[in-house]
Amino acid sequence: MTASITLEITTKVKTINPDTLVVGVDGSGRLPTDAEDLREYYAHLVKIDDEKAAFTGKWGQILNVPMPQESNYARVILVGLKSEKKHKTGDYAVLGAKIAAALKQAGTVCALVPAHDKKSGLVEDHLAALAEGMQLGSYVFKRHKAAKKDESATLTTIGFDTDRKTEALIAARVNVAAGVALTRDLGNEPPNLLYPESFAKWVERELKPLGVKVEIFDDKDLTKYKMGGILGVGQGSARPPRLVIMTWSGGKALKKGEGPIALVGKGVTFDTGGIDIKPASGMEDMKFDMCGAGAVVGTIKALALNKAKVNVIGAIGLAENMPSHNAMRPSDIITSHAGKTVEVLNTDAEGRLVLMDVLSYIQKTYHPSQIVDLATLTGAIVIALGNKFAGAFVNNDRLWAALNKAADEVGEPLWRMPLDESFRKSMEGSVSDLQNLSGWDRGAGSCTAAGFLEHFIENDTPWAHLDIAGTAYGKGGAAKGPTGFGVRLLYEMLTRG
Ligand code: BES
Ligand code: ZN
Ligand code: ZN
Repeated sequence: MTASITLEITTKVKTINPDTLVVGVDGSGRLPTDAEDLREYYAHLVKIDDEKAAFTGKWGQILNVPMPQESNYARVILVGLKSEKKHKTGDYAVLGAKIAAALKQAGTVCALVPAHDKKSGLVEDHLAALAEGMQLGSYVFKRHKAAKKDESATLTTIGFDTDRKTEALIAARVNVAAGVALTRDLGNEPPNLLYPESFAKWVERELKPLGVKVEIFDDKDLTKYKMGGILGVGQGSARPPRLVIMTWSGGKALKKGEGPIALVGKGVTFDTGGIDIKPASGMEDMKFDMCGAGAVVGTIKALALNKAKVNVIGAIGLAENMPSHNAMRPSDIITSHAGKTVEVLNTDAEGRLVLMDVLSYIQKTYHPSQIVDLATLTGAIVIALGNKFAGAFVNNDRLWAALNKAADEVGEPLWRMPLDESFRKSMEGSVSDLQNLSGWDRGAGSCTAAGFLEHFIENDTPWAHLDIAGTAYGKGGAAKGPTGFGVRLLYEMLTRG
């Protein structure tokens, strides 16, 4: 039975009486004073200049050393920080996750990262990123495991012996990790329990207490607002669709003509494909088809927890795509909120139908200065880019630069994809204004999907569409399940960009 860890980060090291010491070893080759024990007993293990030694301090190396009984600690975990390269926030977060994994194996009850040597380069931001990574790395989803006594989680406290300023930075990054954890919880929650209505309530429960305004549009509201896309996708399901608008007003009051930044998410709580039903194999992964919406909610949570000085609108379209006697048929023509008609040539290309209404509504209502949408939109992006990069379709070079810089910093990489008039044109309809499947059928599937969305962007508003179908969740092994991709990237862009 593997014990999972619940991480609690404290800066009051003196009070936690650690049994494990986590020690960073940098290029100086010197161990912090707290690790003197280690030098005494294990000098032969740790030879910074000897490449053949078990532990040389190279970046990313982890060595878990049991200590003799008379030592102050039961074990010491050495972490290599020696590197030629200047590492980014994301690299420190990955390292933090590795440390969390080492603690998990050790079944640790208590751990400590000691004060870094001031000259050795572990600056405040890095410590905070390490803490964030530890928090991310210790994530477990156990909501639906019946509690058994012998499986009880071990509480692991990581103490950082540090100053007030770093303390605040650590707290802020731990809040970002809490945003990511919410996104992952939403992704993990099974679709019999997470459907549009329950999703909307979950958002309200999480965000309202943090000072976020949450508005929920039910199916009657959606009808009133003529949102034929969200309604059409949801009409085959017994669980009616919803639109949720989250407003975080942490920035200066907006002047006339200024708009907030809008984040838009695809929230298809389960995508069977509808009447154009998907094959059985792998269909279970379509519970993750709400990960774009999940990332928006997680980002807003992180912003609110940290009282970020920005004005952001989050808008998520929630629907369940099911086949039934009420479901849309291939060849149905629906009318979008913007008034454009769309022939539904494939009921499995539903994400764009949900997004078109949300995009139109937020532009009309809030006149955002820029829009970023996130969606598990196409299988084609997985073929094109795999699981590391999300595809970014951006109509504005400045917005692209800001997104790409943030993506690079946190290690959630983007690859810029083309927006072109030809893609847009291929979505024009023959018996309707638009159609939801390109005239080229499957060719350039991710680009034509973006081309479809572009029909709903008005007045050249700076807009980025992130196709996260390949990055929002892992398919196997340790990486199985939702990643929370997008939260750290958007948070970085909105607060430090
Ligand atoms: N939710 C899927 C996209 C998807 C596929 C996400 C694989 C994650 C992994 C989307 O709604 C879809 O089914 N898209 C179709 C579009 C096609 C019918 C034009 C696709 O990608 O095949
Ligand atoms: Zn689909
Ligand atoms: Zn889908």
